Amino acid sequence: MSGEALENLSHEDRIFVPSPEFASKANGKSDLYTQAQTDRNSFWDEQAKNLDWDTPWSQVLDWSGAPVSKWFVGAKLNVSVNCIDRHVAAGNGQRVAIHFEGERGDTQTITYKDLLDRVSQTANALTELGIKTGDRVAIYMPMIPEAVISMLACTRIGAPHSVVFGGFSAESLRSRIEDASASVVITADGGFRKGSPFGLKSAVDEAVASIPSVKKVLVVKRTEQEVNWNSERDVWWDDIVSKQSTSHTPEFFDSEHPLFILYTSGTTGKPKGILHTTGGYLTQVAYTYRVIFDIKPETDVYWCTADVGWITGHSYVAYGPLANGATQVIYEGTPDTPHKGRWWEIVAKYGVTILYTAPTAIRTFMKWGDEFPQAHDLSSLRLLGSVGEPINPEAWMWYREIIGSNNCPIVDTWWQTETGAIMISPLPGVTATKPGSAMGPIPGINAEILDDAGTAVGHGSGGYLVLTKPWPAMLRGIWGDMERYKETYWSRFDSRYFAGDGAKWDEDGAIWLLGRVDDVMNISGHRISTTEVESALVSHPTVAEAAVVGAADETTGQGIVAFVILRAGSVDGPGVAKELRAHVAKEIGAIARPRQILIVAELPKTRSGKIMRRLLRDVAENRTLGDVTTLADPTIMNLIGEGLKSSTSDDD
Ligand code: PRX
Repeated sequence: MSGEALENLSHEDRIFVPSPEFASKANGKSDLYTQAQTDRNSFWDEQAKNLDWDTPWSQVLDWSGAPVSKWFVGAKLNVSVNCIDRHVAAGNGQRVAIHFEGERGDTQTITYKDLLDRVSQTANALTELGIKTGDRVAIYMPMIPEAVISMLACTRIGAPHSVVFGGFSAESLRSRIEDASASVVITADGGFRKGSPFGLKSAVDEAVASIPSVKKVLVVKRTEQEVNWNSERDVWWDDIVSKQSTSHTPEFFDSEHPLFILYTSGTTGKPKGILHTTGGYLTQVAYTYRVIFDIKPETDVYWCTADVGWITGHSYVAYGPLANGATQVIYEGTPDTPHKGRWWEIVAKYGVTILYTAPTAIRTFMKWGDEFPQAHDLSSLRLLGSVGEPINPEAWMWYREIIGSNNCPIVDTWWQTETGAIMISPLPGVTATKPGSAMGPIPGINAEILDDAGTAVGHGSGGYLVLTKPWPAMLRGIWGDMERYKETYWSRFDSRYFAGDGAKWDEDGAIWLLGRVDDVMNISGHRISTTEVESALVSHPTVAEAAVVGAADETTGQGIVAFVILRAGSVDGPGVAKELRAHVAKEIGAIARPRQILIVAELPKTRSGKIMRRLLRDVAENRTLGDVTTLADPTIMNLIGEGLKSSTSDDD
């Protein structure tokens, strides 16, 4: 579409047709849609053949035990062989796998051959530490190469990993280690963030103090800060890994062998351990990486800014890029250290061609100003991706114009920890895109939008997003709680996977994601449940009751706003909100620290005692109140309003 024609359109009414030049070279072709529609299983069969398998499958999909699926039944493979050995064997050992950029400017260049040596040594070290196939290993690390190396070493010996984001608290780490009964924790003394070291080992010490199942703690030296040492249990990475042989003969594991557990927030206080298995996961992750990021391993330099503590870091830092033999950048730190142009400096330094990030980051850069990206040469970029939350059309356009110089297709990719890999996204070079829309299910994936009664709605209507057919990278359950798995995802609509997201079809049949429909907030692309934050608040001695809502936030998508009733005898003072915010950060982690805490005398409840969050959201977003007639006591809202005027909302 020409520039003049675009000028009169609002952002969401624009359509960007792929350039013929991009389309002619794109990995994704429109006939993928036809192939997948014609014969879904043979489509996935073909995708799986892009991996190296030790034993072939007898059946592509077994759905007889629904809602648990089995993919590539009876086949065997090794994930680290697919991510490393086969590239070295193909003569690409000297290709760079990872350009590591530390926050303080230290760098490492790791080729595929280096990666093979380091992963082999780590696999040998884990074996020496007593890890056997099937044992769980917790990983609590900063964004350094050893994080990815540890994950790959676990896959090499068939030990499922459970990566816990380094920003989570000791208590969050403890509950996750305990739930998975991990026997080893891999960590670092600490990491660097905003120019200063932070501690990780200290949190591990606190977390494992009460968990006898943890036999060993393997510690990478990153910051050289002082750490407490338990010589029975703690082992320095350098002491045990470096002395190992660089040769390791991998075993091959069943396609349904557990690959990893990753915890994510649900609607209750207890996080869910999402279980992923081996063959189907790697197939879909490798396929989506190839066609959605259009990777050309010989020439592209890819950078995904996610931390390995989240699913994006698992699928599109660790497994997708490496399975495709890609070269990527891993950056340890924050975007504004030491200056607000750091990301763009990194793009220019490494000649990044594909950038995958989150809308919250894009909005932050918009706020900081165009001068930061414009001070750097971003002409290497050819494709841009977005993930984690709905991207507003204004941010999409800014990304396209300022970062992509109007030259790069944008892939807005919808998926979840549970889906394991991208599900809804344009195919670059094929799909004409609309700013703010994830467009449609990719080839091989089937989605619908349902109304309350479970009937599929048509173009122009909205409802609940569901996935109607099993997919290779789907979760196989919730660790230790299959009932919760069935209840959470498969009971709302018969035989269809309930994603927990609202969505609508526009008149042209493009999908627009509308955010969560449950009590899960999305803060800077991270899922946090209202109940989890409420539980943390009421665990403080001064709090009698708490209600938490996600309120619209210009930068982070949503911000956490908590309404708190203090216990009799506790006095509201300037320090209370501050103390409670710090308490939540200590209990869960800094990402869950409420943006605002409002001390109130009462909470709005229905006659059956249910808190009406809708009204609290109205208050938090400064809107006129919606219908209050179902409240047990409609005068409550006046009380809250009065309380608000006098309450504190600090911004430290
Ligand atoms: O609400 C959707 C939102 O993030 C949720 C999944 O969160 P998580 O499991 O932490 O995984 C995030 C990274 C894949 C979804 O239920 N979400 C994710 N991507 C998008 C999105 N919402 C709108 N558009 C997206 N592209």
